[in-house]
Amino acid sequence: MNVAIVVAAGKGTRLGGERPKQFLELGGAPILIHTLKQFERCREVDEVIVVLPADQTAGFQSLAQRFELKKVSRAVPGGDTRAQSVQRGLAAITNADTVAVHDGVRPFVTPEEIDRTVQAAKATGAAILVAPVADTIKAVQSGRIDHTVARSQLRRALTPQCFQFEVLKQAYGRLADIEAEEIEVTDDSALVERLGVEIVAVEGSARNIKITGPEDLALAEMILTSVVSSQ
Ligand code: CTP
Ligand code: MG
Repeated sequence: MNVAIVVAAGKGTRLGGERPKQFLELGGAPILIHTLKQFERCREVDEVIVVLPADQTAGFQSLAQRFELKKVSRAVPGGDTRAQSVQRGLAAITNADTVAVHDGVRPFVTPEEIDRTVQAAKATGAAILVAPVADTIKAVQSGRIDHTVARSQLRRALTPQCFQFEVLKQAYGRLADIEAEEIEVTDDSALVERLGVEIVAVEGSARNIKITGPEDLALAEMILTSVVSSQ
């Protein structure tokens, strides 16, 4: 039994607007619905827990019905940070082998990418989806180039990030201490890395963008059009 936690409890401050970005419409459906549909289509995930702003949880089941989301079992309220929202999702799971954590604002992940990442985590304990880095990356100190980082060793961390349930619970057990040190936790892998657990990098597509700022909306429309026309 594999469970996905889809976090969508953020405020979307960088994108701005009246509604948080996960609820903005893209091609006739909210971004979050596009994301959840990919989990409906994959084989490896049996159940999905959605983490939402507290005032959105009550109305979500009717939205889930309207869009025929059969795997969504629970909608739980999120926390102040992404990591706290994941933690709330984790607390709602009683039984799972592998848990996949995914950003609600990454609607272009494919069912195949989800399946490959879950399968890798099932086989090894931990696996995250990554994409190549296109630009040359420089380490900078005091406004001066320090050195060039070897690009072949770099990857962008995407989601889903998938872990054995027990490993992820152990990693999140330390969250309060880590946040108390004011260390920003921007993905799940960072917490699991601290346990010394080996994590497999699963190569994915750069198309799996996180809708972050206003410029990403136009890009998302373009990707959606290209996905639809290639089907
Ligand atoms: N997220 C969440 N709970 C939070 C913060 C973020 O569930 N307290 C979710 C977002 O809804 C999003 C994902 O984590 O699906 C990635 O976060 P990000 O892109 O930073 O979204 P926001 O935090 O909403 O945006 P911003 O940082 O611009 O406010
Ligand atoms: Mg954020």
